[in-house]
Order: sequence, then C-alpha cells, then structure tokens
Amino acid sequence: MKGIVLAGGSGTRMYPLTLATSKQLLAIYDKPMVYYPLSVLMLAGMRDILVISTPDSLPALRNLLGDGSHLGLDISYAEQAEPRGIAEAFIIGADYIGNDQTALILGDNVFHGAGFPRILRACRTRLNGCTMFGYPVSDPERYGIGEVDGSGALVSIEEKPLRPRSNDAITGLYFYDNDVVEIARDLTPSPRGELEITDVNQTYLKQGRAHLVRLGRGFTWLDAGTHDSILAASQYVQVIEKRQGVRVACLEEIAVRMGYIDADACHRLGAGMKNSEYGQYLMEIAQSLG
Ligand code: DAU
Repeated sequence: MKGIVLAGGSGTRMYPLTLATSKQLLAIYDKPMVYYPLSVLMLAGMRDILVISTPDSLPALRNLLGDGSHLGLDISYAEQAEPRGIAEAFIIGADYIGNDQTALILGDNVFHGAGFPRILRACRTRLNGCTMFGYPVSDPERYGIGEVDGSGALVSIEEKPLRPRSNDAITGLYFYDNDVVEIARDLTPSPRGELEITDVNQTYLKQGRAHLVRLGRGFTWLDAGTHDSILAASQYVQVIEKRQGVRVACLEEIAVRMGYIDADACHRLGAGMKNSEYGQYLMEIAQSLG
C-alpha cells in the first residue's frame, strides 16, 4: 500500500502566519504539523510515501523530510499547482500509486489513541473498497459526516450538511483499493471547482464498498486547520508528553520501534539535535533499545 500526505492548500485562512511558510510546517507544540499525519502512515506500516504540496511549499518540506531514508522510508514529492480538491491527489499520484492500494491522510490531521496501530493494520489487511474513520464531534456541520445503521453499516455520507444525520465526522484519513484512481478521474468538479473527496466516498458507498470505522470517544482526533485548533492540538500534545514522558508522533522513535532503522541510527539522529530535548529523547530511546 502506498501512502499519500496531502499538504497543500492556499493557507489563506491562516494569513499572515502562512504568508511565508506552509500551514503543515507550523508547529504543533514541539514538532512540525506534517510529522503527525506522517506518523500515522508509518504506524500503519507504510514506507512508500508521497508528499503532495504547493510549488512554494515543496522545497521546505523536502528540506525537512528529505528522501526519508534516515527514517527507513522512501519519500517522494509531487506538486499540486492549485488547490483543486482533495481527490486530485489520486490523479497527481496515479503513476506513483500504480496498481497498489493507497492511504491518503490530510496534512493537518492529528490522531492519537491507544491501539491505533493495531486498528490501522487490521483495516489495511481487511480493505474492501474504501475505509474511512469516524469520530464524534460537537459541530458536525463543519465536516464530512457518515451515518451508520443499527448493524454498523454505512448508509450515508454528506459533506458539511446543514442538518447532519449524525455527529460522526469523517476524519482526514482514508484507505482505498486501486479503483480510487479511476473514480477520481471520473469525478465532476464541485461548484467551487474542486474534486471532492466526499464524491469519491459516495461512489464507493453506491457500490456497497464503503466502510466507516468509528473511533470512540476515548480517542483523540484534531484537525489543525485554524489558529484555535493549532493551539488546542499543541496544548493536547504538551499535556500528554509532559504527563507521560513519551512523545507523540516522534518519527525517529516510530522508525526504530517499527524496525525501519536500528538503535545506532536513532542515536545518531538524536545526537544531531542534541541541544534540543527532542534530540535527547531520541538518544534515550536508542539507549533503552540498544
Ligand atoms: O479534516 C477532515 C475533513 O477534511 C473532512 O471531514 C471533510 O469531509 C473533507 O472535505 C475535509 O474538509 P476540510 O474543510 O477540512 O477541507 P479543506 O478544503 O480545508 O482541506 C483539508 C486539507 O487539505 C487542508 O489542510 C488543505 C489540504 N488541501 C485541500 C484542498 C482542497 C490540499 O492540499 N489541496 C486541496 O486542493
């Protein structure tokens, strides 16, 4: 399965913060935002990852993540010239995806919860069509919304409905079989000229091949698309990290624990940033595993 991080968008809603940088490089507490979605793909077991962003933002993302080899990953990059919709990722990434299945994650989504890697890997193994992840929210009119029946089957998907049929937001993480490329190519752009991810998901729903895995209230999902939600996400990560003494979305730690790199390599990565607490943490992790 190939992973895609979609980290584009115009960022105009965040001006002036995003005048000279991309939203996905802003800090969520102690690390760049893009670490969080990238960590999810890594935890799901993906090592081939395509980062899609704007021509302006790609050089900085490339500087940050490189070719991924230091994390045992193979990271490629592609441009989205204009924000023509989330589903355009599958057209831009068509050659990269090839005949594979694919997972798409939005570059501003933060997931955190016990057992998440197990859930992700089970969904990958059982994939039949499309799998989405639902999360209860108090403001469902702001999201794509999924409705399930008594047996847990998904029966409707609506984008930002005025009168939501449920409070299960569809999060920005999606698993698809290879048909997604053709489905995206066949889409009609929305009135605002975008290829909507919800239209992709509705196509799978009509085929009876769309599934919603509901992440419960004991789980955390945040989309860091506004100033307030970036601050909330930062505070959340700060509280967890200070209280538990472990780091959320620490890519090097995930890489070493997943066996993508060895303890020596993790230690070297930490030593390269030894003046930061993050770097010291990496060296401690490496020593505990070495
Ligand atoms: O976060 C989950 C929600 O994401 C879902 O519940 C919705 O169904 C889905 O449509 C999406 O809603 P948003 O209102 O958050 O979409 P937005 O247009 O803000 O795009 C989300 C992220 O994707 C944003 O960080 C920028 C990036 N993006 C978006 C578009 C339209 C791109 O990189 N390229 C694009 O063309």
